Amino acid sequence: MPMQKVVDSAGHSMKLYVHERKPYLFGMPQFNPYMLENLPDCQLRDDDVILVSYPKSGCHWLWEVTRLLVSGRTTTDKVNKENAMMEMSELEGNGSIDDIPSPRILNNHYFFENQPKDLLRKRVKTVLLYRNPKDVAVSFFHHHTRLQNYCYTGRDFPSYLHRFVDGLVDSNCIFDWLASWERAINEHKDLNICIMCYEDLQENPLAEFRRLAKFLGKDYEDDHLQQVIKATSIETMREQKGFLYSDNSGAIMFRKGKVGDWKNHFTIAQSEWFDHVTRTRMGHSKLYNFRYDL
Ligand code: A3P
Repeated sequence: MPMQKVVDSAGHSMKLYVHERKPYLFGMPQFNPYMLENLPDCQLRDDDVILVSYPKSGCHWLWEVTRLLVSGRTTTDKVNKENAMMEMSELEGNGSIDDIPSPRILNNHYFFENQPKDLLRKRVKTVLLYRNPKDVAVSFFHHHTRLQNYCYTGRDFPSYLHRFVDGLVDSNCIFDWLASWERAINEHKDLNICIMCYEDLQENPLAEFRRLAKFLGKDYEDDHLQQVIKATSIETMREQKGFLYSDNSGAIMFRKGKVGDWKNHFTIAQSEWFDHVTRTRMGHSKLYNFRYDL
């Protein structure tokens, strides 16, 4: 699978894996090309939980929350989300996802069409996390301009926004990604899935954590859930895990963690244009309720 410099309409390039297995066309440079190609045949365990999300939707956060809810613990440990990220892992051997003891909380950014076949076959519990696309665009902009591996040559948000809408980024276009999952949910009634929204989690973590816990077969007192909320606050997580991907400006994966940061980046004209694109691409959706403000 070739790594290529993918050039956008402004002439900026970004290094990405480009692979045959559509619709998941582009992968992060750190990913394992073998996994990108072979994920559909990856064997899942009956008690696995798979967290799926488009990049920058809050996966690091919800992965920690899910681990705590499944284990019953109220403090995080040293294991990082990347250890359980399917595209980054090896299939077997030391440090692979096969090495993780059950119950595994795995995560990936794949379209539904490229998920392991076992997801449906074994009715593996799947948690889908989504976030409003404007904040995703801003978060991804910081991700791409700050993480060196991409060798992204652009620096300005206006041209990045076009790149983002054109889907010339890892996991391709957010609208296609979301549509892929909505189609799957409509077509496969036996998909064992719980839908979580980043903004709902921010607004009412107690109710949303309780709902997730129930899906995972757990029932906790409010006190216990409050401890999980505290342990997974962005401040705590930044302190504990922020060193992994960071630069002079701080932690890249635990940056602001706010709803509405898009207002600091979008002009009014860009916002109206983006709303139009979103309506055109997602107007038919009955699943997603994008919340741009709290
Ligand atoms: P921002 O860049 O807008 O701050 P992912 O984990 O899918 O890569 O998503 C990263 C986004 O989730 C970043 O958004 C990050 O700050 C935010 N995030 C990470 N941990 C969080 C937490 N504990 N609470 C709220 N948001 C969090």
